[in-house]
Amino acid sequence: MTPPWNPESWKQFPAAQQPNYPDPNELKQALGQLLRLPPLVTSWEIDHLREGIADAQRGDAWLLQGGDCAETFDECQTEQIASKLKLLLQMSLVIVFASRKRIVRVGRIAGQYAKPRSNDTETLHGVTFPCYRGDIVNQFEFSEHARRPDPSRLLRGYERSALTLNFIRALSEGGFADLHHPENWNLLFVNEAKGEVAKRYRDLVKSLGDALRFMETILEGSTVSELKRVDFFTSHEALLLDYETALTRPSVRGIGYYNMGTHLPWIGERTRSIDGAHVEYFRGIRNPIGVKIGPNISPDELVDLVRRLNADNQPGRLTLIHRMGRRHVESRLPGLIEAIQRSGLTVLWVCDPMHGNTVSTNSGRKTRRFDDIVDELRLSFAIHHACGSMLGGAHLELTGENVTECMGGSRNLTESDLESAYQTQVDPRLNYEQALEIAFEIAGKLTEYRAS
Ligand code: PEP
Ligand code: CO
Repeated sequence: MTPPWNPESWKQFPAAQQPNYPDPNELKQALGQLLRLPPLVTSWEIDHLREGIADAQRGDAWLLQGGDCAETFDECQTEQIASKLKLLLQMSLVIVFASRKRIVRVGRIAGQYAKPRSNDTETLHGVTFPCYRGDIVNQFEFSEHARRPDPSRLLRGYERSALTLNFIRALSEGGFADLHHPENWNLLFVNEAKGEVAKRYRDLVKSLGDALRFMETILEGSTVSELKRVDFFTSHEALLLDYETALTRPSVRGIGYYNMGTHLPWIGERTRSIDGAHVEYFRGIRNPIGVKIGPNISPDELVDLVRRLNADNQPGRLTLIHRMGRRHVESRLPGLIEAIQRSGLTVLWVCDPMHGNTVSTNSGRKTRRFDDIVDELRLSFAIHHACGSMLGGAHLELTGENVTECMGGSRNLTESDLESAYQTQVDPRLNYEQALEIAFEIAGKLTEYRAS
């Protein structure tokens, strides 16, 4: 018998990857303030996303989830937020145009501030400090003061999330998101881009414009109002359980608890232990949830995990984000898919082709090869198809900025190019062109498997 759940029942279980706050009173005070602050999202929006994910499970929609590995407080700025949104809108346009499926857009945004780390501490030139765990915990700078986990940053993280979300909501409500004006989504530095990917995108926008005008002529001049706004949801790795609990609120309709700090929280690969605090916390909230799964999970373990997280097998509830790496996907994924099929459990399968493909260069830079990313995606499509299953989405680390963090792509970035605009403090992201190229790749695969 599983004991009853409540928003704090996770405290009876071991919680991995939590910061060691030096002063418990400071933490208590910060959490007390968070508890009094309003939620960031509503249960209605969350329910709406759950329906979208259920549509994707049936093959009527496709999930596009993307954003930074870690947002930083400093980058809570107009251009950075707008360009991420623009890029995700452009990518969904590419995918929707080819696949004819509705796109469920989810950003790794407005709260993606906490990072799991391999070690608690970092040593440099013989000095050891706590490791950087994301801006919501401490600062990246390597000093005793900066690395001290500081509970007041929980409040700063909440505020930055609210500011980001406020801007996203304004942008997605109208005008900016109007499909009649995709020129709004052009990124400054690519306006005159000569690159072949940007050209391919501009051609697509032109044919889309023609199709829209044609449709509206048939509808006798009226404009299609649903095309004037978009749904855009938020997600982050719900790592800091104290923070997540403070934003876990009863629904006004009296039907359980929602994490109202984000629409789609997910459990990371490092915290998905079935006996751990994260799984306990997640099993009781009513949000749609994600869980990352790497090459070490066994089919039996996966089935147990899915049963624990979605005890009543509710549609739209659970997204499995596989991140096997190009080297392991062929050997690991089929067994997992078959185990879920045999168990009769409903999940959405999403591929994260980033986290299993991280490598270090000789100079110590963390990078990913574009070809590995594309290969893992292609193989995932093919494996699902061969198993009679379906790949229902992609989970990507990307930015609208013109960075050089992943190697390869249409400009064939090399190891030495990485130095020119390497900005991430954690994992390497796809830049604008690489991300758009991935969108064309996905569009091609969805068309191919629709036809077969
Ligand atoms: C991440 O998404 O940034 C991450 C840490 O991924 P994973 O849990 O899959 O390693
Ligand atoms: Co990452």
